[in-house]
Amino acid sequence: MARNPLNILDAKRILVAPSILAANFAELGNEITRVQKAGADIIHIDVMDGHFVPNLTLGPPLVQSIRKSSSLPFDVHLMVTNPKFFVKPFAEAGADHITFHVESADNIEDTIREIRSFGCSAGLSVRPKTQADKIIPYLDKIDLVLVMTVEPGFGGQSFMPDMLQKVRTIREAIKKLPKNIHLEVDGGIDTKNVFRVAEAGANMLVAGTSVFRAPDGAEAAIKQLKSVQRFLY
Ligand code: DX5
Ligand code: ZN
Repeated sequence: MARNPLNILDAKRILVAPSILAANFAELGNEITRVQKAGADIIHIDVMDGHFVPNLTLGPPLVQSIRKSSSLPFDVHLMVTNPKFFVKPFAEAGADHITFHVESADNIEDTIREIRSFGCSAGLSVRPKTQADKIIPYLDKIDLVLVMTVEPGFGGQSFMPDMLQKVRTIREAIKKLPKNIHLEVDGGIDTKNVFRVAEAGANMLVAGTSVFRAPDGAEAAIKQLKSVQRFLY
Protein backbone atom coordinates (compact mmCIF):
# COMPACT_ATOMS: atom_id res chain seq x y z
CA MET A 1 0.00 0.00 0.00
CA ALA A 2 1.17 3.55 -0.77
CA ARG A 3 2.57 5.35 2.27
CA ASN A 4 2.63 8.97 3.40
CA PRO A 5 5.43 8.82 5.98
CA LEU A 6 5.86 11.94 8.09
CA ASN A 7 9.48 12.44 7.05
CA ILE A 8 8.27 13.81 3.72
CA LEU A 9 6.60 16.74 5.54
CA ASP A 10 8.51 19.93 6.28
CA ALA A 11 9.83 19.93 9.87
CA LYS A 12 9.97 23.75 9.84
CA ARG A 13 6.22 23.98 9.46
CA ILE A 14 3.60 23.88 12.23
CA LEU A 15 1.60 20.71 11.61
CA VAL A 16 -1.59 19.88 13.48
CA ALA A 17 -2.40 16.27 14.36
CA PRO A 18 -5.86 15.89 15.93
CA SER A 19 -6.01 12.93 18.33
CA ILE A 20 -9.08 10.83 17.59
CA LEU A 21 -9.32 9.93 21.27
CA ALA A 22 -11.37 13.12 21.70
CA ALA A 23 -13.68 12.40 18.73
CA ASN A 24 -17.23 11.14 18.95
CA PHE A 25 -16.54 7.41 18.46
CA ALA A 26 -20.09 6.73 17.28
CA GLU A 27 -19.33 8.99 14.29
CA LEU A 28 -15.63 8.31 13.88
CA GLY A 29 -15.44 8.29 10.07
CA ASN A 30 -17.34 11.59 9.82
CA GLU A 31 -15.29 13.09 12.63
CA ILE A 32 -12.06 12.37 10.75
CA THR A 33 -13.46 13.83 7.54
CA ARG A 34 -14.52 16.91 9.53
CA VAL A 35 -11.03 17.64 10.92
CA GLN A 36 -9.40 16.99 7.55
CA LYS A 37 -11.70 19.58 5.96
CA ALA A 38 -10.91 21.93 8.86
CA GLY A 39 -7.20 21.93 7.98
CA ALA A 40 -5.63 19.04 9.93
CA ASP A 41 -2.31 17.79 8.52
CA ILE A 42 -2.12 14.36 10.18
CA ILE A 43 -4.47 12.04 12.07
CA HIS A 44 -3.06 11.00 15.48
CA ILE A 45 -4.17 7.57 16.69
CA ASP A 46 -3.53 6.61 20.33
CA VAL A 47 -3.06 2.90 20.99
CA MET A 48 -3.05 1.75 24.64
CA ASP A 49 -2.64 -1.83 25.88
CA GLY A 50 -3.87 -1.58 29.49
CA HIS A 51 -0.35 -2.48 30.67
CA PHE A 52 2.07 0.26 29.60
CA VAL A 53 -0.70 2.70 30.55
CA PRO A 54 -3.83 2.07 32.63
CA ASN A 55 -6.27 2.34 29.74
CA LEU A 56 -7.36 0.46 26.61
CA THR A 57 -8.21 2.10 23.31
CA LEU A 58 -8.24 0.60 19.85
CA GLY A 59 -6.65 -1.96 17.57
CA PRO A 60 -5.73 -2.56 13.92
CA PRO A 61 -9.28 -3.42 12.70
CA LEU A 62 -10.47 0.02 13.72
CA VAL A 63 -7.53 1.68 11.94
CA GLN A 64 -8.35 -0.32 8.84
CA SER A 65 -11.99 0.74 8.94
CA ILE A 66 -11.19 4.48 9.23
CA ARG A 67 -8.43 4.34 6.59
CA LYS A 68 -11.00 5.09 3.88
CA SER A 69 -12.27 8.20 5.73
CA SER A 70 -9.10 10.22 5.17
CA SER A 71 -6.23 10.76 2.76
CA LEU A 72 -4.07 12.27 5.53
CA PRO A 73 -1.09 10.42 7.01
CA PHE A 74 -1.98 8.20 9.99
CA ASP A 75 0.33 8.81 12.95
CA VAL A 76 0.03 5.80 15.27
CA HIS A 77 1.24 6.38 18.85
CA LEU A 78 1.87 3.02 20.52
CA MET A 79 1.58 3.25 24.30
CA VAL A 80 2.23 -0.47 24.71
CA THR A 81 4.81 -2.61 26.52
CA ASN A 82 5.77 -4.65 23.41
CA PRO A 83 5.60 -2.31 20.40
CA LYS A 84 7.56 -4.51 17.96
CA PHE A 85 4.80 -7.12 17.91
CA PHE A 86 2.23 -4.48 16.94
CA VAL A 87 4.14 -2.84 14.08
CA LYS A 88 3.06 -5.30 11.38
CA PRO A 89 -0.70 -5.32 12.17
CA PHE A 90 -0.88 -1.53 12.39
CA ALA A 91 1.22 -1.01 9.25
CA GLU A 92 -0.98 -3.44 7.36
CA ALA A 93 -4.07 -1.67 8.67
CA GLY A 94 -2.88 1.63 7.17
CA ALA A 95 -0.42 3.39 9.51
CA ASP A 96 2.02 5.72 7.71
CA HIS A 97 4.04 6.58 10.79
CA ILE A 98 4.56 4.65 14.04
CA THR A 99 5.85 6.10 17.31
CA PHE A 100 6.73 3.91 20.30
CA HIS A 101 8.08 4.64 23.76
CA VAL A 102 11.72 4.64 24.79
CA GLU A 103 10.48 3.13 28.10
CA SER A 104 8.89 0.11 26.39
CA ALA A 105 10.35 -3.41 26.78
CA ASP A 106 11.49 -4.12 23.21
CA ASN A 107 14.89 -3.47 21.65
CA ILE A 108 14.74 0.06 20.27
CA GLU A 109 16.87 -0.41 17.16
CA ASP A 110 15.08 -3.66 16.22
CA THR A 111 11.71 -1.92 16.57
CA ILE A 112 12.84 1.02 14.41
CA ARG A 113 14.03 -1.46 11.76
CA GLU A 114 10.70 -3.30 11.91
CA ILE A 115 8.79 -0.02 11.38
CA ARG A 116 10.97 0.94 8.41
CA SER A 117 10.59 -2.51 6.85
CA PHE A 118 6.95 -1.60 6.16
CA GLY A 119 7.83 1.76 4.56
CA CYS A 120 6.61 3.74 7.58
CA SER A 121 8.49 6.58 9.28
CA ALA A 122 9.58 5.93 12.87
CA GLY A 123 9.23 7.97 16.06
CA LEU A 124 10.32 7.60 19.68
CA SER A 125 8.41 9.04 22.62
CA VAL A 126 9.32 10.00 26.19
CA ARG A 127 7.04 10.03 29.22
CA PRO A 128 7.13 13.13 31.47
CA LYS A 129 9.46 11.50 34.04
CA THR A 130 12.00 10.34 31.43
CA GLN A 131 14.90 12.70 30.80
CA ALA A 132 15.90 13.97 27.35
CA ASP A 133 19.24 12.16 27.47
CA LYS A 134 17.44 8.81 27.15
CA ILE A 135 16.29 9.70 23.65
CA ILE A 136 19.15 11.82 22.32
CA PRO A 137 21.36 8.82 21.36
CA TYR A 138 18.65 7.67 18.90
CA LEU A 139 17.95 10.97 17.14
CA ASP A 140 19.95 10.10 14.04
CA LYS A 141 17.96 6.86 13.60
CA ILE A 142 14.42 8.27 13.76
CA ASP A 143 12.14 10.73 11.93
CA LEU A 144 10.29 12.16 14.90
CA VAL A 145 10.55 12.68 18.66
CA LEU A 146 7.32 12.78 20.66
CA VAL A 147 7.53 14.60 23.99
CA MET A 148 4.57 13.75 26.22
CA THR A 149 3.23 16.89 27.87
CA VAL A 150 0.84 14.87 30.07
CA GLU A 151 1.18 11.45 31.69
CA PRO A 152 0.14 9.08 28.86
CA GLY A 153 -3.13 7.20 29.28
CA PHE A 154 -5.98 9.65 28.93
CA GLY A 155 -7.10 12.58 26.81
CA GLY A 156 -8.32 15.86 28.29
CA GLN A 157 -5.54 16.37 30.87
CA SER A 158 -3.72 19.64 31.61
CA PHE A 159 -0.51 20.57 29.81
CA MET A 160 2.64 20.22 31.98
CA PRO A 161 4.72 23.41 31.51
CA ASP A 162 7.78 21.68 33.04
CA MET A 163 8.10 19.77 29.76
CA LEU A 164 9.06 22.92 27.82
CA GLN A 165 12.68 22.61 28.92
CA LYS A 166 12.80 19.04 27.57
CA VAL A 167 11.41 20.26 24.24
CA ARG A 168 14.13 22.93 24.12
CA THR A 169 16.92 20.48 24.95
CA ILE A 170 15.77 18.03 22.28
CA ARG A 171 15.35 20.76 19.63
CA GLU A 172 18.90 21.95 20.34
CA ALA A 173 20.16 18.36 19.89
CA ILE A 174 18.18 18.00 16.64
CA LYS A 175 19.79 21.19 15.31
CA LYS A 176 23.18 19.46 15.57
CA LEU A 177 22.06 16.60 13.30
CA PRO A 178 22.85 16.60 9.59
CA LYS A 179 19.08 16.37 8.85
CA ASN A 180 16.05 17.97 10.47
CA ILE A 181 13.42 15.77 12.17
CA HIS A 182 9.98 16.47 13.60
CA LEU A 183 9.45 17.33 17.26
CA GLU A 184 5.90 16.48 18.31
CA VAL A 185 4.19 17.40 21.57
CA ASP A 186 1.20 15.50 22.91
CA GLY A 187 -1.16 16.24 25.77
CA GLY A 188 -3.18 19.29 26.75
CA ILE A 189 -2.05 21.39 23.76
CA ASP A 190 -4.40 24.30 23.13
CA THR A 191 -4.51 27.86 21.82
CA LYS A 192 -3.23 29.18 25.18
CA ASN A 193 0.01 27.18 25.42
CA VAL A 194 0.78 26.67 21.72
CA PHE A 195 2.94 29.78 21.51
CA ARG A 196 5.26 28.45 24.24
CA VAL A 197 5.62 24.98 22.72
CA ALA A 198 6.42 26.37 19.25
CA GLU A 199 8.93 28.81 20.65
CA ALA A 200 10.57 25.92 22.57
CA GLY A 201 10.95 23.99 19.32
CA ALA A 202 7.91 21.77 18.71
CA ASN A 203 6.59 21.81 15.13
CA MET A 204 4.03 19.00 15.31
CA LEU A 205 1.09 19.52 17.63
CA VAL A 206 -1.16 16.71 18.80
CA ALA A 207 -4.47 18.23 19.85
CA GLY A 208 -7.44 16.12 20.89
CA THR A 209 -9.85 18.05 23.06
CA SER A 210 -8.85 21.49 21.74
CA VAL A 211 -9.70 20.51 18.14
CA PHE A 212 -12.48 17.91 18.27
CA ARG A 213 -14.34 19.73 21.05
CA ALA A 214 -13.44 23.32 20.13
CA PRO A 215 -16.33 25.63 21.09
CA ASP A 216 -15.90 27.68 17.89
CA GLY A 217 -15.35 24.65 15.68
CA ALA A 218 -12.32 22.72 14.49
CA GLU A 219 -11.43 25.09 11.66
CA ALA A 220 -10.99 28.12 13.94
CA ALA A 221 -9.03 26.03 16.45
CA ILE A 222 -6.62 24.63 13.83
CA LYS A 223 -6.13 28.07 12.32
CA GLN A 224 -5.22 29.49 15.72
CA LEU A 225 -2.82 26.65 16.45
CA LYS A 226 -1.08 27.23 13.12
CA SER A 227 -0.87 30.98 13.69
CA VAL A 228 2.23 30.44 15.85
CA GLN A 229 4.26 29.52 12.76
CA ARG A 230 6.24 32.76 13.01
CA PHE A 231 7.43 31.89 16.55
CA LEU A 232 8.69 28.42 15.62
CA TYR A 233 12.30 28.00 16.88
C1 DX5 B 1 -2.53 10.70 25.90
C2 DX5 B 1 -2.55 10.68 24.39
C3 DX5 B 1 -2.85 12.01 23.74
C4 DX5 B 1 -4.12 12.65 24.15
C5 DX5 B 1 -4.24 14.03 23.56
O1 DX5 B 1 -2.07 9.49 26.38
O2 DX5 B 1 -1.31 10.25 23.89
O3 DX5 B 1 -2.74 11.92 22.33
O4 DX5 B 1 -5.23 11.90 23.79
O5 DX5 B 1 -5.48 14.54 23.91
P1 DX5 B 1 -5.66 16.00 24.52
O6 DX5 B 1 -5.24 16.95 23.45
O7 DX5 B 1 -7.12 16.04 24.83
O8 DX5 B 1 -4.78 16.09 25.74
ZN1 ZN C 1 -0.80 10.40 21.57
